[in-house]
Amino acid sequence: MLRLQDLLLARGGQTILRVKEFRLAEGERLAVIGPNGAGKSTLLKVLALLERPTTGAVFFRGVKVTAKNALAFRRRMAVVFQEPLLLNTTVFNNVAQGLKFRGIDGAELQRRVDYWLERLSITGLRSRTPLHLSGGEAQRVNLARAFVLEPEIIFLDEPFSALDFPTRFNLLEELGELLVKTGTAAVFVTHDFTEIPFLTDNVAVMDRGEVVCRGKLWEVKESGTSIPAVRHLLRPLNMSRRLDNYL
Ligand SMILES: Nc1ncnc2c1ncn2[C@@H]1O[C@H](COP(=O)(O)OP(=O)(O)OP(=O)(O)O)[C@@H](O)[C@H]1O
Ligand SMILES: [Mg+2]
Repeated sequence: MLRLQDLLLARGGQTILRVKEFRLAEGERLAVIGPNGAGKSTLLKVLALLERPTTGAVFFRGVKVTAKNALAFRRRMAVVFQEPLLLNTTVFNNVAQGLKFRGIDGAELQRRVDYWLERLSITGLRSRTPLHLSGGEAQRVNLARAFVLEPEIIFLDEPFSALDFPTRFNLLEELGELLVKTGTAAVFVTHDFTEIPFLTDNVAVMDRGEVVCRGKLWEVKESGTSIPAVRHLLRPLNMSRRLDNYL
């Protein structure tokens, strides 16, 4: 579905992303995990066609992405960031905005927005402005804004990291179901291994601008002893096991 080839991205005189080859299969859901500064957000932005690589190429469904066709491809994708970036208007208008950009209006717009407000249990918030929403509510609006576009692929960059534990896990569960039911491919950035099984068991580990390990969740965990980034990210799980000794 997506392929990166011989890709380098330099910023401020430094190479921050180096990928020889990277593939996302048709309909695949992939978690990208790595320590702070590993290049996860940069990789996501390159895949979502929001950042252009310094050298190398991105292919979407076999077609090389160029300055000319990038916008058309981007319209088949949706992005969800940790900060919801909502507009200072009603929740309804926030969810409707992307459709308007795509030339959809009238009854079709109304129907699709209503459907996704309902599906994400935020119909009651439709006339509210985002300013006074809780973090969990705001991320529900953010998800509705993405799904209403009926994207072929959705990119999520630590979408729930700022939320408390029960809110986070409820949203992960719902998101997992939505992705499966709609058949949407996804790239999900996180730094928390416990979030991954809600969405997928396909994992890519990043460290210092490179993908250092790719496989099923259990394979990645097994490799933890030999890959420092994985060992580092597994530490919280071992620490919580230590807590068990006191409980
Ligand atoms: N525009 C830029 N100019 C210079 N350096 C940048 C730029 N964007 C990112 N970087 C650097 O590239 C590296 C990777 O950044 P990136 O945001 O992709 O990491 P990340 O894995 O998403 O980290 P985090 O977990 O903190 O979100 C960092 O060292 C960052 O400082
Ligand atoms: Mg990041």
